[in-house]
Amino acid sequence: MRISEHEATNRIKSGRFVSIKSNDETFFSLVTDIKLSITHPDIPLAPPALHEQLLMHAIKDRFLSLHATLRPLLMLDKNGKRRPVKTVPHHFSPVYEATDDEVALIFGRESDGSGRYFNLGSPLDMSAEVCINLDALTERSTGIFGKTGTGKTFLTRLVLAGLIKQNKALSIIFDMHSEYGSQARREGSTSSFVKGLKTLFPDKVAIFSLDPESTRKRGGKVDVAVTIPYRALQVQDIVSLQEELNLHPTAYEAAYLLENVFKKEWLHQLLTYQGELKELADRIGAHPESIIALHRKLKCIERFPFITPEKAVGGHDVVEELVSYIDKGYSVIIEFGNFTSTLCYLLVANIITRRIHTLYTKKTELFLGSQRAEDEPRKLIIAVEEAHKFLNPAAARQTIFGTIAREMRKYYVSLLVVDQRPSGIDSEVLSQIGTKIIAQLHDEKDIVAVLGGMPNSSELRTILSSLDSKKQVLLAGHAVPMPLVIEPRTYDETFYASLITQPQKDILEQTIKDLF
Ligand SMILES: Nc1ncnc2c1ncn2[C@@H]1O[C@H](COP(=O)(O)OP(=O)(O)OP(=O)(O)O)[C@@H](O)[C@H]1O
Ligand SMILES: [Mg+2]
Repeated sequence: MRISEHEATNRIKSGRFVSIKSNDETFFSLVTDIKLSITHPDIPLAPPALHEQLLMHAIKDRFLSLHATLRPLLMLDKNGKRRPVKTVPHHFSPVYEATDDEVALIFGRESDGSGRYFNLGSPLDMSAEVCINLDALTERSTGIFGKTGTGKTFLTRLVLAGLIKQNKALSIIFDMHSEYGSQARREGSTSSFVKGLKTLFPDKVAIFSLDPESTRKRGGKVDVAVTIPYRALQVQDIVSLQEELNLHPTAYEAAYLLENVFKKEWLHQLLTYQGELKELADRIGAHPESIIALHRKLKCIERFPFITPEKAVGGHDVVEELVSYIDKGYSVIIEFGNFTSTLCYLLVANIITRRIHTLYTKKTELFLGSQRAEDEPRKLIIAVEEAHKFLNPAAARQTIFGTIAREMRKYYVSLLVVDQRPSGIDSEVLSQIGTKIIAQLHDEKDIVAVLGGMPNSSELRTILSSLDSKKQVLLAGHAVPMPLVIEPRTYDETFYASLITQPQKDILEQTIKDLF
């Protein structure tokens, strides 16, 4: 695109959303790059000096120009139907800023009554609302990426609020830093607080806490205090701790041998073994050194008060309780309170997710057998931060998160992964992620990894490297018809107010009327 010399150059930026009209067709495009050009080779040899205004003027209109590179990503044919781009616009076709109506035509409107769309923000320098299609979003896993401080957690909270509001999926959120439940801090000149999901949806969200005291101190209500008996741990759960515990492969082999002999009691046997560990090793046919190493390393589990040798009083099993909340239509936030070590996060997330996955597989099979609509499981999204710890190439092959990422929506369970270092995630897993919301990334490696295998990835790469560090993200993939740079909506009072649906408003009004 040639940019008219009358246009203020700062209005044209990489990531801008424009439409090209050519015959009866409209090509929706993104500005991917901007460059200066000079049409005569002699001019740069003797450029006008600052005081040579007349010369400057003389060459400006004819020989100097500003060019933007556009990448058409979607077109509307003459009947107004959306089509993939298979051709190019004609020479000298005019380019316009896309209008609000065009944006709505492509991305849908939250207020259209279908409950399918959720407004996530607006295109750069525009006020139109850009929606994601929540049905499509929940069909596959989703990734939210960006370096630290770019607003990933805020975006995740927005997306989850959208899913809860439109009743599209239930979620389990592993909330390492207690940012999703009751409230979260907002950085800035004046530090303030924003509302958490439990505060916004008290009857649709439950808080499970590993550290109930800390949750209560921060003013949150604890629905369930989490306890996990030793029996609930499988060797598979330990595998993901490889890096944290510096476990040698022979240590797992020993663990598997233990599990073979003692079944669910393996960890209990190991940690509470009264005699010599060598004896235990002999009994199960393991190498004594490996058993001793395994014992020493797993000893740290005893430090966590929520992992108990016995079932908790009353005999409740936290996963069963979690499932009963899910069955009642609650999303569940698992708060870690002061247990913010990666070890703890990985361990708990693995144990719970593995069991949930087993239960969901059963539910799905039941539904496939009966084919009764009431047996159909609700879609479930499991949200984890620091996803590369769960999904690095080694872990992705062996742990439950890798399985879920690969088998996708078959069992109604998908992942929402949040990460600042996507290059640490297994590339096969990354390629299975349906929708990506990407904020600024510093490392070239991360940019390459996150766009790997996506159409138009080289153009998207230039756009991605020109994003600001705050309030700009690239939205691409399954839940949107074309990639687009958006300014995410602000998570504030206006947003909270938009979460109240019309039926709720009617009930509120009726209640107020009845009262007076
Ligand atoms: N949509 C938004 N609405 C309001 N404020 C926002 C929004 N997005 C980001 N912010 C501001 O940016 C700050 C950083 O955002 P956030 O905590 O989500 O970053 P992050 O990417 O999760 O960082 P980290 O990787 O360190 O966890 C927030 O504290 C908030 O002040
Ligand atoms: Mg964060």
